[in-house]
This record gives sequence, C-alpha cells and structure tokens, in this order.
Amino acid sequence: MLSPREAVRTLPSYHPPLAGRDGLRLDFNENTVGCSPRVLERLRRLGPEDLARYPEREAVEATLSAFLGVTASELLLTNGVDEAIHLLCETYLEPGDEALIVVPTYSMYRIYMMAAGARVISVPSGKDFKFPAGDLRSSITPRTRLIAIANPNNPTGAIASHDELMKIACSAPDSAVLVDEAYFEFCGQTLLSARRESPNLFVARTFSKAYGLAGLRIGVLVGDRDQMRTVRRVSSPYNVNAVALACLPAAIADQAYIQQYVSEVREARARLESALEASGIRYWPSHANFVLARVGSTRLDSAAFVEHMRRRGILVRDRSSDHGCEGCVRITLGPREHADRLLTALRETFEELGVNQGASRT
Ligand SMILES: Cc1ncc(COP(=O)(O)O)c(C=O)c1O
Repeated sequence: MLSPREAVRTLPSYHPPLAGRDGLRLDFNENTVGCSPRVLERLRRLGPEDLARYPEREAVEATLSAFLGVTASELLLTNGVDEAIHLLCETYLEPGDEALIVVPTYSMYRIYMMAAGARVISVPSGKDFKFPAGDLRSSITPRTRLIAIANPNNPTGAIASHDELMKIACSAPDSAVLVDEAYFEFCGQTLLSARRESPNLFVARTFSKAYGLAGLRIGVLVGDRDQMRTVRRVSSPYNVNAVALACLPAAIADQAYIQQYVSEVREARARLESALEASGIRYWPSHANFVLARVGSTRLDSAAFVEHMRRRGILVRDRSSDHGCEGCVRITLGPREHADRLLTALRETFEELGVNQGASRT
C-alpha cells in the first residue's frame, strides 16, 4: 500500500479557512482594502499572450533588486514567504537535524521543518512575549541547521533588535538563519543591509500584507549570492506566476499608496491599544498590523469573543491554542473606517459578554 514518509505521517495539519470568510476580515493580517489602483490598471492590460507564455521573471527581479538595494543574484522571487520557508527547509535540513523556532510564532515554520524530517526545538518567548535572544542562542547545537524568526513576530507583534539577530546568525555559522520580515512595512526595521555580514543569513519579505496581494502569492527571499544559487536549484523556475510578475512592478512603484495605508494602520493600532487599555484588557504592544489581546482566561472565552464579533460582521483570529496565548485573540488593523467598525463592535461585544474587564488583566 502506498504510504507517505514517516515525517509526513506524523505532521500536524494546519487548517486555515479556505472558504466562507465573509465580513470585515481582521483575522489573517491581510490588507483590508486591497492593493494599489495601479496594480488593477496593470491587470486590466493583461492579454492572452501574457498567460500563454511561461512566466518571464528577469526584468521583475531587476526592478525588485533595485528597490530593495540588493543585487539580482542575492534574490529569489517566491510563491509567498511560505515557499521561501519551504525552500530553505528543502535546501538545508536532513532528517534528524535540529531546527529552532521561538514560540508562539507563525505555524508554517514547524510544518515545513517537520516535513523535511527535522527535529523542531521550540524556544518559549520571554516574559510578555519578549524575544528570547539568550535562550535561542543557548539552544544552538552542532546539529542546528535552520533557525526561523519572524520579526516582528506573529501573533505577538514583538520585535527582536538588529544586534540580537546578528548575534544569533554569528553564533550559528553552520545553520541557515531566516529573518522573516513579512510585517516589515509596519515597523520599518530590517536586516537587509546586514546580509553581507553573515553568509548564513536570509531575509524574507512578502507582498501579501501591506501591499494587499495575498491572492497573487508573491514574496522574496534575499541571501548570500552563493547560498541563493543553491536554494535556486530546489526551486521551480516558474514558481511565481505571470500575473503576479506583471503586477509586482506596479505595486512597488506606488509607494505613496503603501505609506498612506501603513500610516492609517499605525493610527488604528494606537486606537485599538488605547481602547483595550481603557477596558482593562491585557494586550501586547505590537510592531505589526495586528494586536494580540487576552479577552478572557480560557479557550471558551476567546471562542465566544470571536463568535460575537463574527455576528457583528467582523472576523478575528482565535489564538488560544498557541503557546502562552490562552484566552487570546489576534486582531488585524486596517484604515480608519475599518478601525471605526472594529472599535464599535469591540465595545458592543464586551458589553454583551459582560467581560469582567479588570479580571482579564494579568
Ligand atoms: C510571519 C509570517 N510569515 C509569512 C507569512 C505568509 O506570507 P505569504 O503570504 O507571503 O506566504 C505570514 C502570514 O500570515 C506570516 O505571518
């Protein structure tokens, strides 16, 4: 009988909703209003010829490398950051190798690491979900081959400093160190300029979040030129589709659109954090386009909160099952109008649930 590899048999499954997300989607950290109009304009100009050909990427890679200030040989376009993570696992992990993550964090690191047969070592975040720089460094062993760090982290919004990350990269010269900057635009801190200091360092960016292109599936991995040549061997030459390639230059050309969106999201984040503070709800200050908040003490509390918000047309994400996140939800921010709707629904939900607001503080 056909049977999958041992690593795949024991793989936990990740179940994001693949249909039925009606309402204001504040559950998956997407851009809540969509991409720049320039992208839509470019889409309208696509013809049958553009779809008939296998995708041509060189010109787009040149545009993106100039935008990021790296050379084209240091960069690989990917089918979202998810594919970048997958490629690093395929390139560097042998069965039995160790791979390090901080918990809680983005679920796909563990899944791809386990699928490659690696032993995943989870390093708990520090107090208040602080980046556990020291613990992560002391977890590095001669078997460590990959370390994945989301910066800012999802779902906590916590950030690691440039120095902490570089020390980790230098402490693990035999390990690939991925710094996943999926939420870079909302915090502005990057390790891109440090990429040449440490040949084992990789930086990933996505166009799924601030740029509003999650549906196109496009991201980028940057790293040492020689390492990237190796990673490219594992990748399909056509891993990014022609529609995404056509749209990307239009998306990055409209920086005014991104800046406006990011500034409204930051304003919304400050408004949400103040509202939570005023209600006595515990939350963790975030550097991304979402905030993690403890709306109760158990999984039932967070599930009830999610359901009450859903009835008001707002989707938020239950994170109760994440390490250290009992009773927590993650709420994505959008521009002003969406923040207004969110804050109204939040107030009504707290009233309806009779949240003992003082009691949820820890
Ligand atoms: C930290 C992090 N990395 C990567 C991703 C996925 O990005 P992409 O859509 O580019 O695959 C997410 C999405 O939630 C994320 O939170």
